Amino acid sequence: MIVCSCNVLSDGAVRACLSRGPDCPRTPAQVHACLGCSPKCGGCARTIRSIMQAALQGAAKESLGHACGEGCASSCSLVLFQSAEEGITA
Ligand code: FES
Repeated sequence: MIVCSCNVLSDGAVRACLSRGPDCPRTPAQVHACLGCSPKCGGCARTIRSIMQAALQGAAKESLGHACGEGCASSCSLVLFQSAEEGITA
């Protein structure tokens, strides 16, 4: 499914760049950069955030946790999403 019509990005492409690690995108704009483009209208930001949130939930279900080092984990969008859902402010 195309989630960004401006750049013709699919949900699969977005998920593919959400591998955990120090280069993990932290914002929808960073997802665009990971995929070699930049946001234009911004209409896809909410959908991309939802995909990022689903990726976190999937990792939590699989008990994979966060594989980044401490420096990354403290500002990783996936951790921030988790903290927001749990009512914890980072
Ligand atoms: S739909 Fe993604 S930038 Fe316009």
